[in-house]
Amino acid sequence: MSQIFVNIKELLQVRNSYERKVCGAQMNELPSIKNAYLWVENGLIKDYGSMDTVPEIAIEQIDCTERLIFPTWCDSHTHLVFGDTREDEFVDRINGLTYEEIANKGGGILNSAKKLESITEDELYEKSLSRLQQAISTGTGAIEIKSGYGLSVEGELKLLRVIKRLKESSEIPIKATFLGAHAIPTAYKSNPEDYIDLIINKMLPVIAREELADFIDVFCEKGYFSPSQMDRILKAGKAYGLIPKVHVNQFNSIGGIESAIQNYALSVDHLEVLTDAEIDSLANSDTIPVALPLCSLFLSIPYAPARKIIDKGLPLAIASDFNPGSAPSSNLNLAVSLACIKMNMSPEEAINALTLNGAFAMNLATEVGSITQGKKANFIITEPIKNYHLLPYSFGSSNIESVYINGAKQE
Ligand code: NIG
Ligand code: FE
Repeated sequence: MSQIFVNIKELLQVRNSYERKVCGAQMNELPSIKNAYLWVENGLIKDYGSMDTVPEIAIEQIDCTERLIFPTWCDSHTHLVFGDTREDEFVDRINGLTYEEIANKGGGILNSAKKLESITEDELYEKSLSRLQQAISTGTGAIEIKSGYGLSVEGELKLLRVIKRLKESSEIPIKATFLGAHAIPTAYKSNPEDYIDLIINKMLPVIAREELADFIDVFCEKGYFSPSQMDRILKAGKAYGLIPKVHVNQFNSIGGIESAIQNYALSVDHLEVLTDAEIDSLANSDTIPVALPLCSLFLSIPYAPARKIIDKGLPLAIASDFNPGSAPSSNLNLAVSLACIKMNMSPEEAINALTLNGAFAMNLATEVGSITQGKKANFIITEPIKNYHLLPYSFGSSNIESVYINGAKQE
């Protein structure tokens, strides 16, 4: 099947295939073609260019006068598979409790783990599928999904098997992350090393055998897992071929970044609390920082220092962190706005962080994240708008007219 999108007011994020991520000052550049065409064949981008050179071919034409086209958002950090929402904790926070206080009284991640026990794999799959469809409808065209609400052998496998089913049924690329080390279950509070043994000796071998995960994650934080515990878990995961991609520096800087870099982590995510020395260490590594502004907004905690990160020459990706506790939204259009409004990023930097760099942060930069020959035809057509500055400016709405996945319009 072949289609050509013509008279595109501006085709954004056009890149050569060797461009896998953008760093520092390059993040402020968003290559584009005005008055463009985009040719799609068999779900892939076949070609694109200026309307002056549009090929004369007898295929379906879609007129995009006054509209912009850009690649779908790439969400490199989500916890989309969970049992139920946690709005009671949200009200507790409005009434003055902190995220930490709620966790200490059995809420938080442990609350989600409890909710997961009573739900069947089929129910979990159906709920998660509808959340995934919702994310796609708001412009997400590739996604990473973590386990981490099981915290037992059966629970973690249930989550990862659901993610695998989503992978097999979904039109968009999905990467799976094993996050057994998301919290220490109550039964192991006095002997956390036993829980780590369970992760290493009972969970990882099955996950590897059933090919249930691409990445391994640890929540490295006071009261959760220390840098040395994270090191042990990441090394065990790496022995099974899982690539580290971790939660660090959300509330405290406790050495997680050093440990992540030493383990060649693909990404370090959260970074709401980040020292200058940690930024320097990241600058000397291949690990990409990932900021999660929807979590900062929802928990009223600091935003990752995007300006410092980019001004030091680093790449930055942004993701939703979609989860029932700290970011119950998968809407990346709001993340683009927050990047500009709260993190002082330019629209170009924000769009790069949510497309090409998002794809890089989940090892998908050869498939999605830019308008590039041979990549998936996953893109967004805007409503008639003046220019792309309207994307962050229109916070709370999206300017999206339609979303195309593998060249097919999503209804
Ligand atoms: O990335 N911080 C750790 N994990 C999640 C939140 C988990 C939850 O509250 O359910 C996060 O913010
Ligand atoms: Fe997270």
